[in-house]
Amino acid sequence: MTHLFKNISNLVTCANPEGGPKRGKTQGDIYTVENGFLLFDKNILYAGKESDCRKFIKERGIKGIRETDCAGKTAMPGFVDSHTHLVFAGSRSDEYEMRISGCSYEEIAAAGGGIKSTVNSVRKHSKNSLYKISEKRLANFIKHGTTTLEAKSGYGLDVRNEIKMLEVIRELNAKNKFGADILPTFLGAHAVPKGMKKSDYVDLICYEMIPMIARKNLAVFIDVFCEKGYFDAAETRRILGTGKKFGMIPKLHSEQFNTIGGIDAAVELNAISVDHLEVLKKKEIGKLRKTNIIAALLPGASYFLDMVYPPAREIIANGIPAALATDFNPGSSMTENLQTIMSLASVKMKMSAEEIINAATINGAYALYRQNLCGSLEKGKQSDILLFDFPSYKDLIYHFGVNLLQVAVKKGKFIVNEL
Ligand code: NIG
Ligand code: FE
Repeated sequence: MTHLFKNISNLVTCANPEGGPKRGKTQGDIYTVENGFLLFDKNILYAGKESDCRKFIKERGIKGIRETDCAGKTAMPGFVDSHTHLVFAGSRSDEYEMRISGCSYEEIAAAGGGIKSTVNSVRKHSKNSLYKISEKRLANFIKHGTTTLEAKSGYGLDVRNEIKMLEVIRELNAKNKFGADILPTFLGAHAVPKGMKKSDYVDLICYEMIPMIARKNLAVFIDVFCEKGYFDAAETRRILGTGKKFGMIPKLHSEQFNTIGGIDAAVELNAISVDHLEVLKKKEIGKLRKTNIIAALLPGASYFLDMVYPPAREIIANGIPAALATDFNPGSSMTENLQTIMSLASVKMKMSAEEIINAATINGAYALYRQNLCGSLEKGKQSDILLFDFPSYKDLIYHFGVNLLQVAVKKGKFIVNEL
């Protein structure tokens, strides 16, 4: 079936004529068309002006087009959320309340809560039950416009349970009714499991988990929580380096609370992204310049933990491409809603609406190595399209706290339709 969205008040393509992630000045180039026309089936056939679109339809002799009038509406690419912990069980609302009354994330973790309490819950749940819980959350992502997302393991911390999590992700990717693309990341190095020496656990990750996960083809990416009290720079290098040898693409949690050499490791291993960066220092910014590493900013974690926000203005001024992601997880960012993250990026990080939209679409796609498939409305890419009930993309950022998404299309299929 061929569809035509016509008379779109504001068609935002996030086109990428120069190629490469958007950085510096181009971080703000989103390429809009007023009264735009968007022709698509499973893939985008045409995005642009009416006259050229009509010509295209005539030349190709395309018949039986279903037309939708989109006056007063804004179309843009489906959001790409490049950092989520989609799969987990249990709630940490009790810890949340402890934090609100004054305990820090680090204090709670030191007292045996935090990641470890989610590990206990995940280990108790069957694959099937984890699948069902995660499927429900996926629906929340979709409702708010995310059509491609990453999902990490990291709450199993032993061979069986890390594999269980990755199998849930694989199944969800293959079977979810939305056709959403879910990219799997192995995050065995999220914390050291109780009762195990760290050096033994790092050995287990490198000698057993990575080879097995690679053999089963369960992870595209490998991630490490490079942080004081978790994994240091040398351990991070070893784990990411081993993953890379087995064909996984490195990315890492870095500079969330401390600077301990994560950026050096990322540069050395040519990571695809460095994520968090709340405490990123000038010197580390200098190291990221001129690399192709994406800075995946997660202001939901800053908000939820009530701490400092990543220095987005400096990051962009130094030509480092910025992406925005939810970091959806039970401990530090309990939201599936990337629109909320965009509002935070505006108010708290002073990113412009244009920079934000590129960060949540095309640069997110780069952070997941999906730039040829999604992240912009360009001919030949997947039809991952959002339609909002407002006349300008600026309203997406300005009008906060409500969800004005009316239509979401994933690979040509209408998965949200409130028209
Ligand atoms: O990205 N920082 C490490 N990992 C998660 C938090 C995980 C948790 O608290 O369960 C994060 O913020
Ligand atoms: Fe995270």
